[in-house]
Amino acid sequence: MQDFKGRVKKIMAVVSGGILLAAAPLFASPKYAIDENTMDEGAIEIDRFISSDTCSGCHSQIFEQWENSMHHLAHKDPVYSRVSQFLRKGLTDKEEIKEAESCVKCHTPVGHITGFPKKVSDDLSKTPEIAAQGIQCDYCHSAYKIKQMYNNGLVLNPGQGEDDPGIKYGPFDDCEPDFHEAKYSGLHTESRICGTCHDVKHVAFGTDLETTYTEWKNSPYNSTDPQKRVECQGCHMYQRPGIPATGSTPRPENPGSATDYSDERPHIFTHYFVGANAAVPGKFDGQIKGEMAIERLQNAATLSVDTSRIKKKKLKVTVTNSGAGHSIPTGVGDLRQVWLEITILNKAGKTRFQTGVLDDKHLLPKDALIFQTVFGDGKGNPVINLAKARQVLSDNRIKAKQSVTQTIKLPTFPGKGSTVTVRLLYRSMPQKVLNLIPGKPFEPLPVVEMAKVQKKI
Ligand code: HEC
Ligand code: HEC
Ligand code: HEC
Ligand code: HEC
Ligand code: HEC
Repeated sequence: MQDFKGRVKKIMAVVSGGILLAAAPLFASPKYAIDENTMDEGAIEIDRFISSDTCSGCHSQIFEQWENSMHHLAHKDPVYSRVSQFLRKGLTDKEEIKEAESCVKCHTPVGHITGFPKKVSDDLSKTPEIAAQGIQCDYCHSAYKIKQMYNNGLVLNPGQGEDDPGIKYGPFDDCEPDFHEAKYSGLHTESRICGTCHDVKHVAFGTDLETTYTEWKNSPYNSTDPQKRVECQGCHMYQRPGIPATGSTPRPENPGSATDYSDERPHIFTHYFVGANAAVPGKFDGQIKGEMAIERLQNAATLSVDTSRIKKKKLKVTVTNSGAGHSIPTGVGDLRQVWLEITILNKAGKTRFQTGVLDDKHLLPKDALIFQTVFGDGKGNPVINLAKARQVLSDNRIKAKQSVTQTIKLPTFPGKGSTVTVRLLYRSMPQKVLNLIPGKPFEPLPVVEMAKVQKKI
């Protein structure tokens, strides 16, 4: 800590483009007036937020973990941007339009709360750089309270920009940073801070579009026994390369320093925020975060196959959610694809049965055994456009720590000496949906093998 004043000066020089600022406001203890009823569009001036680049001056490791995470990319993510533009097109119903315009509230939260962009159809090329950083450091660390547990109900208390950075809320109750003030926030240690964005309701129809937080809340991980309780942070902020930190793998502490110069602590929460998306972060950061997503997926579920009734042309496959703190898949459960690929080869190696095999156009056959949510138009017809989702038609995703068994009827007994191979596969979006989006075709998304079993008959 001996040279912290020198460091602050260096940082301030960087952030103010070479102009050194007076040190006085840095150490003052200003009180900010908070009006929690004005947490809506344009409630806060953009100048009050600080770029994540500034935080990286001292928190360089945390910054590198967060950089190119799906939180950093939430606004720039080409899949999200093209899907949201596509869904907005051609709508005429007022309430459907309201939903299709609302995406920026979570994907560009600094922009939304500071007044631009207000909606998906704004000229997004004019998005200020700080807002284009998606869910960035100062956004999460200015949050101190929640007003509603869905559609981003965070209440914020940012400082006044770089020359008066204000309070950063976090898990430590004993820290004395130099640049900014710090305050212990119990909220940051709870699933609720994640859940307010990870539960999404249709803004007009109230349909549950994403329910990750509710799924966790109803799971055994939300236990009153501290030995069994695991918050979102307990899995997603313990992961680092080689340590997937799921419900079925160890979640060891990560000793280290929160900055480049402060004392070591027993655990520093990692900021990779890896989920299941291997395609998007992998593209931006040269694979590391993509590989971590694969590692997470490979420690999420187990498979077993029962061939005892195969002579009667029946096969039973059981999938167990052993590692996720919510359903598999979770999040955008209508888009994520988790399915069973089954192949039976006879003794001579000839295919006797197949299901769930992608065709050469990367399309999944209609009869594939898939775990997903299907939305409806209110009259029982499935819809692809979230904006039209008036009901949940079906949801057969696998809940935390639960098993689902599928019985498959075979056309014939494949014969003695045949081999049954079952794979559980993941893809973050159907090719069918990608094909609908006008413009440059998307590269096919990676298919990740979550689990595999093989059995000889
Ligand atoms: C000049 C260096 C410096 C800069 C720049 C900086 N911090 Fe810090 N920050 C620290 C130090 C030092 C600590 C205390 C670390 C410790 O005690 O282990 C800290 C602690 C924190 C904490 C923990 C607070 C708590 O009570 O749990 C958070 C959160 C935080 N910083 C967020 C940020 C954010 C967000 C930014 C950018 C807007 C930022 N910091 C910029 C030096 C800095
Ligand atoms: C999605 C919200 C979110 C974002 C974005 C985010 N953090 Fe955090 N951060 C948290 C939470 C939550 C914790 C505490 C976890 C706990 O205690 O369970 C935390 C902890 C910290 C801490 C305390 C030390 C530690 O890691 O244990 C620091 C410092 C910090 N964050 C800095 C940053 C910086 C710098 C950035 C941007 C590069 C950033 N955070 C981005 C949510 C976020
Ligand atoms: C301000 C809203 C917001 C908050 C708060 C938030 N998230 Fe997110 N999170 C998002 C959005 C939006 C995305 C998706 C971005 C995309 O895919 O384009 C996302 C993506 C993720 C992903 C990656 C998903 C994937 O498919 O790979 C993980 C993991 C994640 N969040 C975990 C967390 C955790 C843990 C917390 C709490 C510490 C948290 N989030 C807090 C909005 C938020
Ligand atoms: C017990 C460990 C564990 C806990 C607790 C946990 N997760 Fe996860 N999470 C996982 C695993 C494993 C995966 C990969 C499998 C999957 O996609 O479901 C995952 C995937 C995700 C994804 C990507 C989903 C997809 O398929 O696109 C998001 C988003 C996410 N988690 C958010 C959260 C949030 C928010 C919480 C807290 C409400 C949370 N997680 C709690 C283990 C956990
Ligand atoms: C309340 C917060 C919230 C709102 C509002 C929201 N999203 Fe998201 N979005 C998320 C979260 C959280 C994830 C990550 C879930 C996951 O990984 O499965 C996500 C992920 C996505 C993804 C997956 C991106 C990828 O790379 O695979 C798409 C596409 C998406 N959202 C589209 C939209 C559209 C379109 C809208 C507006 C109609 C919207 N979102 C509104 C929170 C939100």
